[in-house]
Amino acid sequence: MPAVVLSKPENGSSQQFEAKITIYVVICGIIAATGGLMFGYDIGISGGVTSMDDFLLKFFPTVYVRKHHVKENNYCKYDNQHLQLFTSSLYLAALVSSFVASRSCTRFGRRPTMQAASLFFLVGVVLNAAAQDLAMLIIGRILLGIGVGFANQAVPLFLSEIAPVRIRGALNILFQLDVTIGIFIANVVNYFTSNLHPWGWRLSLGLAGVPALILCLGSLIIAETPTSLIEREKLDEGLAMLKRIRGTDNVRAEYEELVEASEAARRVKRPFRNLMKRRSRPQLVIAIAMQVFQQFTGINAIMFYAPVLFQTIGFKNDASLLSSIIMGTVNVLSTLVSVALVDRVGRRVLLLEACVQMFISQSIIGGLLMANLGTTNSLHKGVAVWVVVLVCVYVSSFAWSWGPLGWLIPSETFPLETRTAGYAFAVSSNMLFTFLIAQAFLSMMCHMKAGIFFFFAGWIVLMGLFVVFLLPETKNVPIDEMMERVWKKHGYWKRFMDDDDGVEAVNTTTTV
Ligand code: BGC
Repeated sequence: MPAVVLSKPENGSSQQFEAKITIYVVICGIIAATGGLMFGYDIGISGGVTSMDDFLLKFFPTVYVRKHHVKENNYCKYDNQHLQLFTSSLYLAALVSSFVASRSCTRFGRRPTMQAASLFFLVGVVLNAAAQDLAMLIIGRILLGIGVGFANQAVPLFLSEIAPVRIRGALNILFQLDVTIGIFIANVVNYFTSNLHPWGWRLSLGLAGVPALILCLGSLIIAETPTSLIEREKLDEGLAMLKRIRGTDNVRAEYEELVEASEAARRVKRPFRNLMKRRSRPQLVIAIAMQVFQQFTGINAIMFYAPVLFQTIGFKNDASLLSSIIMGTVNVLSTLVSVALVDRVGRRVLLLEACVQMFISQSIIGGLLMANLGTTNSLHKGVAVWVVVLVCVYVSSFAWSWGPLGWLIPSETFPLETRTAGYAFAVSSNMLFTFLIAQAFLSMMCHMKAGIFFFFAGWIVLMGLFVVFLLPETKNVPIDEMMERVWKKHGYWKRFMDDDDGVEAVNTTTTV
């Protein structure tokens, strides 16, 4: 018997919506979240593949030769722009395609956009798994990136729109949870395929097709969101779908609110221009800063290159992949901590606690490497084990803070009239900075050596100060009361609320 949840609408009115947590909604949520699995699998797979000898020999022979050169510099083994391009081309493609995907979401709906994502992704997988030369490899990776751009735009939107209001946050974090599970599965796959010579890397890249296939077939049975149907003026279909996913015929109030919200959204002609107005400054600065800071924690330096990194500090191939599997497990479990705590202790506490934990672990890792790892020796086993432990300490704090909250906070701070445009800005900033870190990390490690960890630790101090002075607490504040209860009361940001040059006025609520 599904639970009945009576949700108070977020504009604070006393009206209640009836919504059951239906099996159908849960199945739709689980299937759509496989978009996160595709993204996470990609994040996790490339580091392991780029440390496999068979792969390097075929596509990057100079890196292979340097890797096995006896007196090679520890920190520069893998510094190769083409090798980095393999990892980072996906993010550049995702950055560009997410703008196209946002139009596709509005015009054709969330479901076709997810289907398109899985199809791009599948073609990319085939090209990658069958790659004969570097061009085929990179083109395949770009197609995967387009798939990721489409999925990351459509899936969180889809999850938000089908969820009963009370479990919307939990369903959103399901996406990030799938990202971490994807990273974990990729690490396990790499662990086994690295022993399959000479084609193990093909299996690693090919298995990315599994989550894409689930999304592709699954999206045939899942719903289109009522919001999207109503937005595209399919009112009867929208009403029928709302009844189906809410498990009740009593949906009139919610239906009317959706109709009103989509009419209001249509009245805002230029959301991107509104976003540039002074009144939108606080939310825009915070959305971009959250993404820039999320990436400057250095998380993807660890996620993409964990096996490379562990090899750099002297682990053998197997041992380094095993260490990344341990790290992946910590990442998944710690995300569950965030689900449990975020609405109890609040966003700021999680972010600040994580800053302290990340700063300490990064600094000690940097110190250990500086003291023990020269350019040509290996770390003693004891020290290397400590490095892995500290990486896990670091990853756990990221996973319950800047990981999920980097996505959550920009989605809850914008007022209706700039919300979707603002969120698109946040998504593309994330992709841009993910790309920059992926492209730069190996060269930075080559030039800065262990200092790279102090570089990231420095950023962590900065982001901690940002949270202390500029990030308001948004826990338990209804989205449409943010302006009154958060921005107009904030010591610094309230001055941006004074003028009236602002945003085109819209007085209704939305569901995104
Ligand atoms: C970030 C990714 C990161 C992942 C790690 C996500 O929130 O956006 O860049 O790789 O978390 O779990």
